Amino acid sequence: MEIKFKDHLSLGVSTAATQIEGGECEHNWYDWYTKGNIKGHSNPARATNHYHLWKEDTLLMSEMKIKHYRMGIEWARICPKESEVDLEAIAHYKAELQYLKEQGITVLLTIHHFTNPMWFERKGAFTKKENIKYFLDFVELIVKEFGSLVSEYITINEPNVYATNSYYFGEWPPGEKSFSNTILVMSNMAICHIKAYQMIHSIRESMGYQDTLVSFANHVRVFDPLNPKNPWHFICAKLLDWFFQGAITNAISRGKFRWPLKRTKDITPGEYLDFIAINYYTRSTVSGFCDGVKQNAPKNDLGWEIYPEGLIRCADHIYRLLKRPIYITENGTCDNKDAFRSKYIYEHLKVINEANLPITRYYHWCFCDNFEWVEGESARFGLVHINFSTQERTIKTSGEFYTKMIEENGISDELYKEYVESQKYHY
Ligand code: BGC
Repeated sequence: MEIKFKDHLSLGVSTAATQIEGGECEHNWYDWYTKGNIKGHSNPARATNHYHLWKEDTLLMSEMKIKHYRMGIEWARICPKESEVDLEAIAHYKAELQYLKEQGITVLLTIHHFTNPMWFERKGAFTKKENIKYFLDFVELIVKEFGSLVSEYITINEPNVYATNSYYFGEWPPGEKSFSNTILVMSNMAICHIKAYQMIHSIRESMGYQDTLVSFANHVRVFDPLNPKNPWHFICAKLLDWFFQGAITNAISRGKFRWPLKRTKDITPGEYLDFIAINYYTRSTVSGFCDGVKQNAPKNDLGWEIYPEGLIRCADHIYRLLKRPIYITENGTCDNKDAFRSKYIYEHLKVINEANLPITRYYHWCFCDNFEWVEGESARFGLVHINFSTQERTIKTSGEFYTKMIEENGISDELYKEYVESQKYHY
């Protein structure tokens, strides 16, 4: 039961701007809410009011012994209109970053996490190649403004999830169902990342900083055939894997744009990641061209299979493409009653610790309950409980467990017995 974390492994927590900040910003998720597309009519303008409670949240992180924090910034807040920059918003984020630094918390900053300002959305967002420049202008602004406050960047969070949910399944804004636009978005986001990667390095180098690290957060899952001996299941699993994550991983990490992604003359093959960033949640069990869940497997409150070994299978696969240190930039579960989150964390950290891979960071998703996109406030992923009406924060039992693991740099038998042994998943 006992686990002693390897020397290089550090634990942290993750959030995203739209999911915690609140405030009425003119962005595609607020717009999606006004169109009645969020469960329970949850309003992203409420979220956890972090935009005003950031000091309190930072102190809570300190109290929980957290030293690494992956956070985002809201493009629509900083650039509410085309060619307009809100200097107060920039000053706000600088103050927050400075305060985190003073508390000894290092930041990994996400520039784009699913949310677009409405002016950009109305122009067709990432479906249009000519819109790439707007994203790059934003990157330039941020990197120059934040200077020494941030040295580690995630350019884009989960381009495959953004592209498929927004343009293929039509469940996220703008609600399209178009295969060709899905492919265009993935291709353009790959170009965005590579250009941003080069730009962040060159700006920071010209400012005299040598410690820059840049990557994109890659949402990966395992695609296994329901029946491995059934050729149809097998082929579907391979194809889904390639469409959803294989093609884009190759394009972004190595500049190799292969079918079905659009080839581009703007990018030359190379290596465009300083570390591998993996967001891992679940496995798909495949018997056709749609997501399936293995029967009788452990599941969370959203019905996602809990499959810790999948994290290592995915990490191993990506590490073979490009040998870089690995950060798990998101891993966590929807557990509304906090009934099995500690067990989930234990099982994932166990496989991480046993793997022969250079996994150096683990950021738990999420620091606190939050606005979970179309699930709104109904799906709780946090180590900290949020009472959305009063905005009261309470550290959950899993949050206590997380702190004790950080303090012990591992999981002792006593800790295992106290927090993990009695917990159970749904089947
Ligand atoms: C996203 C998060 C989201 C989490 C849980 C990830 O794919 O990056 O924003 O909250 O999954 O659904």
